Amino acid sequence: MSNFAELNYEGKLYQLPVIEGSEGEKAIDISKLRSTSGLITIDKGFKNTGSTESAITFLDGEKGVLRHRGYSIEELADKSSFIEVAYLVIYGELPTEEQLKDFQLEITHHTLVHEDVKAILEGFPSKAHPMGVISSLVSSLTAFYPKSLDPNRSSEEVNGTIIRIIAKLPTLAAWAFKNRMRQPLVYPNNNLDYCSNFLRMMFGLPTEDYHVDPVVSKALDKLLILHVDHEQNCSASTVRIVGSSHASLYASISAGIAALWGPLHGGANQAVIEMLEAIKADGGDVSKYITKAKDKSDPFRLMGFGHRVYKNFDPRARIIKKAADDVLGALGVNDPILDIAKELEGVALKDQYFIDRGLYPNVDFYSGIIYRALGIPTDMFTVMFALGRLPGWVAQWKEMREYGDPIGRPRQVYTGHNDRPYVPINER
Ligand code: CMC
Repeated sequence: MSNFAELNYEGKLYQLPVIEGSEGEKAIDISKLRSTSGLITIDKGFKNTGSTESAITFLDGEKGVLRHRGYSIEELADKSSFIEVAYLVIYGELPTEEQLKDFQLEITHHTLVHEDVKAILEGFPSKAHPMGVISSLVSSLTAFYPKSLDPNRSSEEVNGTIIRIIAKLPTLAAWAFKNRMRQPLVYPNNNLDYCSNFLRMMFGLPTEDYHVDPVVSKALDKLLILHVDHEQNCSASTVRIVGSSHASLYASISAGIAALWGPLHGGANQAVIEMLEAIKADGGDVSKYITKAKDKSDPFRLMGFGHRVYKNFDPRARIIKKAADDVLGALGVNDPILDIAKELEGVALKDQYFIDRGLYPNVDFYSGIIYRALGIPTDMFTVMFALGRLPGWVAQWKEMREYGDPIGRPRQVYTGHNDRPYVPINER
């Protein structure tokens, strides 16, 4: 088998090396193509372009496989905890009991944020979307930890920055919600686990004890695991490309949060609930919305359907669909939009339009229904995604730094005007 591909261009033959990943995926290395042939490649949306080699997450979109560091998402969701999976993706191996205890301890010691952050938070209008708020607050951490601006510090110092962001994001997220509600802030309680602490800061009050329902905390932990990483998606690529300019971890994560916000990416979980609510308010006629989704002159898309990589099924969606039934059952919640979601899925999966294009429910289709049952308001859904995705972003940033990746700087094919003389304003 040859380990190069040949390109025949204008009568000349160019040999391009082929590299192979540990799961057998092959890629043509075109990094020298321009210097040898004068050609670049173009691939809008990077649909067929590998931006890096990575050892964090493996996806097989055709077979619906998702593994972190070699462990299947099904096993991790079933047997692990969010903090354990966070350790796994960031440091590469499952932690020993002692490593996990130390990691948890370190995180709980950094959950508090500087009091001056409150002044920034209070500057936001109460209507501010919490994704914008947390993206800004994460970026503001660079002001409170100025040494973090230098990503070339020792690995211990960089690790301190990593621990801080994982510890503080739940506090910032819960505070963004409290500020929106104009309620007093609740400070972290370091006796609680990661999710229970977050839920107490979201729903508790400083004046009274708040009992976290273990069903709710466990369900949230599972949802966070399912969001931990998803290789070179829009937000992870953003984090890597921002970090590739040697911008700090906080700045890179802040950019990742902004990228996640859009409705085609993490913002889809909010959009799904809004869509299901609209269908319900419109009388629950699912087929009408299926028709709209297929109509190319209508901008409506079935939110929570389709994926750039998964063309058969999204393994996370399967786990979440089952979890939605379990959680709603355990909490005694009867949400009519769960029935609309299931009906919509049933109709779409039998429809030739969706079959031909490999469109299936993705991770966002059922997650919002669980968040709703847990009492989380709709505009906080994407914040939940960000909490879950944080370890993945950190792992991607850390790997990019350790690999010494060059600054990300795509090329373009210029299609504008050719050289032309300047026209004075009175002659235009
Ligand atoms: N509803 C209706 N048609 C769709 C949908 C949809 N949700 N998704 C894709 N299509 C059609 C699209 O119109 C196109 O049709 P045609 O070939 O006739 O032009 C074909 O399917 C391929 O779509 P694409 O937009 O070229 O695919 P993409 O890989 O660029 O986009 C996607 C992937 C996820 C952005 C897209 O499927 C979408 O917009 N889905 C809805 C938003 C959503 O649920 N996003 C969450 C993704 S999973 C969470 C995460 O971000 O990790």
